[in-house]
Amino acid sequence: MKILVLGANGQVGSHLRLVLREATFWTRQDVDLACAAELEKAVLTAQPEVIINVAAYTAVDRAEQEPGLAWAINAEAPAALARAADRLGALLVHLSTDYVFDGNSRRPYESTDSVNPINVYGRTKLGGELAIASVCSRYWILRTSWIFSEHGANFVKTMLRLANERDSLNVVDDQSGIPSYAGDLASVICELVSDIDDAHSLPFGIHHISGGPTTTWYEFAQEIFRSAYAQGIIARKPLVTPITTAEYPTAAKRPRYSVLASSEVLEEHVVTIADWTKRLDEMLGKIQGF
Ligand SMILES: NC(=O)c1ccc[n+]([C@@H]2O[C@H](COP(=O)([O-])OP(=O)(O)OC[C@H]3O[C@@H](n4cnc5c(N)ncnc54)[C@H](OP(=O)(O)O)[C@@H]3O)[C@@H](O)[C@H]2O)c1
Repeated sequence: MKILVLGANGQVGSHLRLVLREATFWTRQDVDLACAAELEKAVLTAQPEVIINVAAYTAVDRAEQEPGLAWAINAEAPAALARAADRLGALLVHLSTDYVFDGNSRRPYESTDSVNPINVYGRTKLGGELAIASVCSRYWILRTSWIFSEHGANFVKTMLRLANERDSLNVVDDQSGIPSYAGDLASVICELVSDIDDAHSLPFGIHHISGGPTTTWYEFAQEIFRSAYAQGIIARKPLVTPITTAEYPTAAKRPRYSVLASSEVLEEHVVTIADWTKRLDEMLGKIQGF
């Protein structure tokens, strides 16, 4: 099966390289997603049977200052991929985000719940979802949350860096979500794609992938320092003070609660992803630098 992966140098893309060894991997150097016409042409020429898009404009705060670029990469590029997939009869696998929700729910979000993004990044990612759903029929949009990995930039590495620089820090404790290990997401994608010819393969549409347990950024930070200290990665644990979102203003608003309920139908098809606490311990054991 001819598989094309876009976003090969990102967190999930780096893990896909390890599990989909036969696939073709494109980075920004191969094609710039900011140019939808060029992208569509390049994909049509490559003629993949499966297109996996894990590239995105993921700088949530910067997106507030660059809405046009974020829209081009997160909405127009997926639309171009969907048009190409439709013409080629290819399957499109696309990652999306918990930030399509406003965070006002009191229970985990199902994939059928109403969306209402509250920042530019979320609106552009929703734009990508809507474009895909309106253009092609063979697609899986997989929404996930709070990705971390030994590859790329993420909250875990930021916390480790701060631990080396400071004795104490403040971390927001009133935003809840579920961290997801990029290696697990890559394994899920790999497994789903391998089963595509199976009569019982995952239904096309939007699905949520997340493990558990639910946490806050403050609790996540505490767990990072506990594990990193126990493994000798940091020399001392900084003092962490829980603060509110109001005490830590950022350019982009963030949902107060963005817990995703993992799609049951997805769990019937793939191994459930492990608790992030276990994956965090393992990831810290593999980390090369931060
Ligand atoms: N990170 C999260 O916490 C999170 C949470 C929920 C959902 N998601 C979604 O999950 C997916 C994967 O996230 P991730 O954390 O693996 O992303 P990531 O590490 O930020 O990687 C994104 C990749 O996209 C590439 N890219 C950005 N602009 C591009 C352009 N104009 N042309 C070509 N490539 C471009 C980047 O290339 P360079 O390496 O050259 O910059 C990077 O390799 C994304 O769809 C994201 O929206 C992420």
